[in-house]
Amino acid sequence: MLSRTDRERGSSTPLSISSGSGSAGSSQSKREKDGDSRQIPDKLLNRPSPSPSTPISTTVRTSTPTISLLPPPAVSTPPAAQPIRFRTGSRNTVYDVMRDRGWKETDGDMDWDFFWADVHWVHETFDHVYLQEHQRINHFRNHYELTRKDLLVKNVKRMIKTIEKEYGKAEALKFDFLSPSYVLPGEHALFTEEFKRNPGSVWIMKPVGKAQGKGIFLINRISQIAGWRKDVRGNVRGEKDGEDGPEAYIVQRYIENPCLIGGKKFDIRIYVLVTSYYPLTVYIHRNGFCRFSNTQFSMQAKDISNMYIHATNVAIQKHSPNYLSGRGCKWLLRNLKLYLTTQYGAKAVDELFTEMEASVVRSLMSVQKVMINDKHCFELYGYDILIDQNLKPWVLEVNASPSLTAETQFDYDLKHAMLQDCFDVVDLERRHTGKPTRTRVGGFDLVYNDGPVRHERTSNYASYLGCYQPIPRAPRTKKRFGNAPGPLPLTPTCGKNASGSGNGLASGGPR
Ligand SMILES: Nc1ncnc2c1ncn2[C@@H]1O[C@H](COP(=O)(O)OP(=O)(O)O)[C@@H](O)[C@H]1O
Ligand SMILES: [Mg+2]
Repeated sequence: MLSRTDRERGSSTPLSISSGSGSAGSSQSKREKDGDSRQIPDKLLNRPSPSPSTPISTTVRTSTPTISLLPPPAVSTPPAAQPIRFRTGSRNTVYDVMRDRGWKETDGDMDWDFFWADVHWVHETFDHVYLQEHQRINHFRNHYELTRKDLLVKNVKRMIKTIEKEYGKAEALKFDFLSPSYVLPGEHALFTEEFKRNPGSVWIMKPVGKAQGKGIFLINRISQIAGWRKDVRGNVRGEKDGEDGPEAYIVQRYIENPCLIGGKKFDIRIYVLVTSYYPLTVYIHRNGFCRFSNTQFSMQAKDISNMYIHATNVAIQKHSPNYLSGRGCKWLLRNLKLYLTTQYGAKAVDELFTEMEASVVRSLMSVQKVMINDKHCFELYGYDILIDQNLKPWVLEVNASPSLTAETQFDYDLKHAMLQDCFDVVDLERRHTGKPTRTRVGGFDLVYNDGPVRHERTSNYASYLGCYQPIPRAPRTKKRFGNAPGPLPLTPTCGKNASGSGNGLASGGPR
């Protein structure tokens, strides 16, 4: 008999990698009929899309067990005229957006329609409560399978093995979006062997349960982690320090040739909204941004410990002597796309952005089988992506709680608009119940719905990521931001020597 967890995970359900030429709904029913109809995943990513007019079912698959612990109590769907009752501990942009939508805050433990919860609540309480039919929450129960660095590595490695076995090496190579990584202390011996094969290579050590660049350092000799190694008792731990042995880390091959602009390193933050894992339903927002270092990039040995050079987290850059507060160090993704187009041409840049989207979807496919799908849940992830000088994107990590605080008006407007779009997709107000799935909602494009979604093209781009999406002024003007920076320039404006009128986004400390 299956345990509850097995049933919830759908362990008897075929991996939802399917192919076909019809709508998501039709490929789904075909798969259900055929049993396992897995096909080469990348074909999926290139297959023709359902015509936008084709209604696409987004209902959770009936064949996939979802959370249903007890027969639900009498359904208490709020009448359409009633405002949505929300609960949250946040007081940042997300709180403002919920109020701006006319929703009403409640502090009732379970007496809410929507709960913007933090991950601690999910870990500690979610398993002990029953949600009514209409209640929604912003995390999946075991989101950490994707968002904890060690589990992401483990799940992606497993996926690569499965794909290689079933479809061959060439297909498996397409899941090569994580730089080679080992989980320590468990894989210390494997890492040592790999390091010896690449003498002089540089690796980055990242604690699995921390964020904002905390605890990160670079190494280029095994001896640099020898002291740390002595503590090893073999307990892999994730989230708390100081108990049961050494803190768990991943050690990851450092990308030594990052794409540079103005001689500076940057990484990219994009917002990814998953409304269901069965069928896998993924939206990506056009308005991501990149975060620059304030210091010229260098791989010289003397600079290896200078995290102002190597870590682009705003939380680190804010303390750099070159940092200019009020100006920040971010660019809208659109500006990056335009800049790169001038350097590399439209085709190469479109391929890069399409590949970024594909990497996001493949990372989600890698955890799909272990995720506990639940129709009450959705999740807004913050992906960190680095591109190298060959224009290859690398997924660095996935955040379950991307920062939604803002430090300039423009940053606030951007996050406000993105969250409005997110709630429009989730549609607690039920304005779109019973209507065909929308392939675009504000800046969110539906990129995968149990199969890749191709949109009707009005331009030459295959990916809309980073395309122009207006950012309306939010209803509130935050006085504490002072004067918002001026229009977005097309040159990086980080650091004391920067020129220009501001970059449109300022420091905010996203995770
Ligand atoms: N493999 C890597 N190669 C190059 N730079 C990296 C790599 N991994 C992380 N970084 C840099 O370190 C920063 C922090 O790493 P990240 O994995 O996002 O952890 P955190 O949770 O601390 O934000 C990134 O924003 C990036 O600038
Ligand atoms: Mg990060």
